[in-house]
Amino acid sequence: MLKPNFKEAKKRTKEDIKVLRNEYVIPEDMKNFGLNKKYYIKTYGCQMNEHDSEMMSAILEDMKYIKTDDYEDADLIILNTCAIRENAHNKTFGMLGRIKHLKQTKKNLMVGLAGCMSQEESVVDEIINKYKWMDFVFGTHNIHKLPFILKQHDKTNELEVNVWSNEGNVIEGVPSKRNSKYKAWVNIMYGCDKFCTYCIVPYTRGKQRSRMPEDIINEVKELIKNGYKEVTLLGQNVNAYGKDFKNLNYNMENLLEDVAKTGIERIRFVTSHPWDFTDKMIDIIAKYDNICNYIHLPVQSGSSRILKLMGRRYTKESYLDLYKKIREKVKGCSITTDIIVGFPGETKQDFKDTLSLIEECKFDSAFTFIYSPREGTPAAKMPDNISKEEKEQRLYKLNEMINKYSKKINDKMVGKVVKVLLENISEKDSSMLAGYTDTMKLVNVKADKKYIGKIVNVKITDAKTWSLDGELYE
Ligand code: SAH
Ligand code: SF4
Ligand code: F3S
Repeated sequence: MLKPNFKEAKKRTKEDIKVLRNEYVIPEDMKNFGLNKKYYIKTYGCQMNEHDSEMMSAILEDMKYIKTDDYEDADLIILNTCAIRENAHNKTFGMLGRIKHLKQTKKNLMVGLAGCMSQEESVVDEIINKYKWMDFVFGTHNIHKLPFILKQHDKTNELEVNVWSNEGNVIEGVPSKRNSKYKAWVNIMYGCDKFCTYCIVPYTRGKQRSRMPEDIINEVKELIKNGYKEVTLLGQNVNAYGKDFKNLNYNMENLLEDVAKTGIERIRFVTSHPWDFTDKMIDIIAKYDNICNYIHLPVQSGSSRILKLMGRRYTKESYLDLYKKIREKVKGCSITTDIIVGFPGETKQDFKDTLSLIEECKFDSAFTFIYSPREGTPAAKMPDNISKEEKEQRLYKLNEMINKYSKKINDKMVGKVVKVLLENISEKDSSMLAGYTDTMKLVNVKADKKYIGKIVNVKITDAKTWSLDGELYE
């Protein structure tokens, strides 16, 4: 049994990051392990987790498993979990309750926990003490070892816990079974060293480590060959890409430019930390048409006092300077953000400062959250004397203001012709297709299915707060 260890997970040493290329292997006796069996993966959390699930899918399919979208029909269930806020925890444990019932009637069902919650000591202790009926737990660092974890469980038939808490290496050569045929996630870096005081990610994902440029570029070229139209470069802090290289002088500016030169039709990247955003990066985004005019730029708070307590290393003023620079140089760029309300000690004035920043920025949209204390992080020890009601009121007020600007910005798009990558049938109306503009606006379009996977011109006919309606414009 290898349990997670927060003390180890917190450590950052000077040790070199290794790029390991031959770590993914399937033992001979596991190659048909999934024959005539089905797997189901439930994914919680961010895009990185979604992409990790795509890798787990490919690994399982390499062992002959077949995918099912119905967990009651599965022989193997994996919950790929998120630890960012308490409600992410609750969802997972709720799902485990339902699966326990299923397991009582289906003795051969195997159930595993993966993802960021697996990296938490308290979660794994709870599994060991109260969820002994589960079969295996693995973490974010050893996804490629899934065949061995299943093998070990098969041998002992006991709960197999195998979670690594090291800083981490870069593992190349793990296959992925992508959910979309047109849009692909591409990891450019793993982990995070920013240690914002509220955040659990640096503990669950390890040290910041960038993939080698040629591995990223080759992956993008391969995607183009396979008909992909859009890539999203993934990392917790993509702007810090390359800062961990010891013998290579190559950063996000270089990478963006090289990915743009591959000719892929659309490039997105998430997430940008305001701290590492350079002027040169802005120029490159403005220069290349295939780098989307869309930047997710989490601000977290509009109060410089709270930003300092959060360890974000920028002020309200420096954020605004960057924001204005982007707006000025990247014409027609849409900018979205993340905001936390109710951080320990956030006063009415601090919250007003956040509202005034929203007034000034008029974001295209925002993800907003009530602060959730995470065990083991510095903010969890800060005195928090704001009531739950007060936090909920602040969130409500904030959302009202955010939504007002989203709607206003969308209203202005009515009558305009924009390019949309049509991805699938619309969730709201099965006679329509849905897709995104390069500025990341969701558009529902009256169009025939033959347009799925194509970038088409669409005339916007109606605007809502979170989406637009449109018709083909030929
Ligand atoms: N790396 C990204 C954020 C990843 S987490 C960045 O630095 O911008 C996504 C969002 O979850 C964060 O931007 C933050 O707004 C929110 N978040 C993170 N920890 C949280 C916590 N403890 N409580 C509430 N929201 C949190
Ligand atoms: Fe978390 Fe901060 Fe790292 Fe983002 S930059 S993942 S908020 S520690
Ligand atoms: Fe959640 Fe882990 Fe992503 S905590 S947000 S799944 S990095």
